Parts: sequence; C-alpha cells; structure tokens
Amino acid sequence: MPELVVPRPSLHSPFLEALAEYAAAGDYPHGSGITPDHLPLDEVRGEPWFAGDLADPERFAAYAEAMPRLADGDVARGFAMVPDTKRWITERDQVLGFLSVRHELNDFRLEEGGHIGYSVRPSARRRGLATYACAWGLDHLRSLGVDRALITCDDDNEASAATILRNGGVLEDVRHGKRRYWVDLRA
Ligand SMILES: CC(C)(COP(=O)(O)OP(=O)(O)OC[C@H]1O[C@@H](n2cnc3c(N)ncnc32)[C@H](O)[C@@H]1OP(=O)(O)O)[C@@H](O)C(=O)NCCC(=O)NCCS
Repeated sequence: MPELVVPRPSLHSPFLEALAEYAAAGDYPHGSGITPDHLPLDEVRGEPWFAGDLADPERFAAYAEAMPRLADGDVARGFAMVPDTKRWITERDQVLGFLSVRHELNDFRLEEGGHIGYSVRPSARRRGLATYACAWGLDHLRSLGVDRALITCDDDNEASAATILRNGGVLEDVRHGKRRYWVDLRA
C-alpha cells in the first residue's frame, strides 16, 4: 500500500533512485521542493536545493529536515513563501513521488501555482498514485479550514488534468498556459 510520509533523511538511497529516474526521463520532480536546475538564484523562493548536491548525505539530511519546517507559517513567510506541507509518496521503502500542499494562495499561487503540486516517478505512473496524493492534499486543506482549492496544470498536461478532474476540479479558465481548476471543499 502506498503511503504519504514526512520527508526524512533515512530515505536517502530510495530518494536518489527516484531522482535518477526522473532525470533519465528528462523530468523535474514537481512537489519535491528541489530547485529547478535552470532557475537563476535570484528567482529561487526559499533555500536553494539543487538535485546535483543531494547525493551528499549531509546536504540531503539538511534538505529532508528543511521540508517539514515549511509547513510552519513563520518559517515559510521568512522566505517570502506560503506555508507548505510536503509529503513523499512511498511504498515498501521506495520513493515513488512527491506532494506539496500550500495552505494559502499568494498572487503567484492564485494566478498560476495553485494550492497543490505533485509528481510521480515514471515507472509508478498510471497506478492512481497522483489521484491518491491529490485527494490527501484536499483533505489536508479542508482540515486547515480552506473552503476551495485551486489546482493548476499546463494546458497540454492531460495526465495532470485527468488527476484534477478525478478529484472534483471544475475548470475556471486558462492563464499563462495553465488550466486553473477549483475544488469546492465544503461539499
Ligand atoms: C501527472 C502525473 C502526476 C499523474 O500521475 P499518475 O500517478 O500517473 O496519475 P494517476 O494514475 O492517479 O491517474 C490520474 C488520471 O490521469 C490519467 N492519466 C495518467 N497518465 C496519463 C497520460 N499519460 N495521458 C492521459 N491520461 C493519463 C489516468 O488515466 C487517470 O484518469 P482516469 O482515472 O480518468 O483514468 C504524472 O504523470 C507526472 O508525474 N507527470 C509529470 C509531473 C507533472 O506533470 N506534475 C503535475 C504538475 S501540475
């Protein structure tokens, strides 16, 4: 059975395996909190965590320990970010994907980023894992008192759009190439 676990240093090897698989497929692990390689440092929100540095156990431990702290509003706002609950999708000590649940929207999140981000490593796709992680994220937002959740995806990302529709998303519009779906959490 898959689980959503709090990021932790002990998952270093399975994490690196997952990362290698994303990289081999030319993919970026959305929802992991890892800084995209091409992003200029002055555009990094929060601490920079580059994939290439995480093979180092100390750097990985620092990253894994920093992720849960982002759920704390004081920590997140200190980085000019919104509070964010991070989870890793695991199964039998394998890391299969990533989930990021932003507790509120700022200007960027309202326009493009949305409340929830996720990805699943290529070999674990089409097993319902993103649907499961997204549903957990919506429950989490409901428990935090959020009335409606925004989830966005690239206009041509059929897999992510299907994931959002499976979770009750209703399309509002497309902005900057992103489909913007709302999920009513009071229903
Ligand atoms: C989008 C993504 C997270 C989906 O993960 P997943 O675990 O394979 O998704 P699920 O198995 O839960 O499937 C959800 C729905 O998407 C559909 N789907 C999955 N992959 C698909 C694909 N390649 N093409 C079309 N539909 C697809 C599934 O059929 C399912 O719909 P259904 O229940 O109506 O049949 C995964 O493809 C991924 O990580 N992509 C790269 C990162 C990304 O795009 N993240 C989202 C950023 S907004």
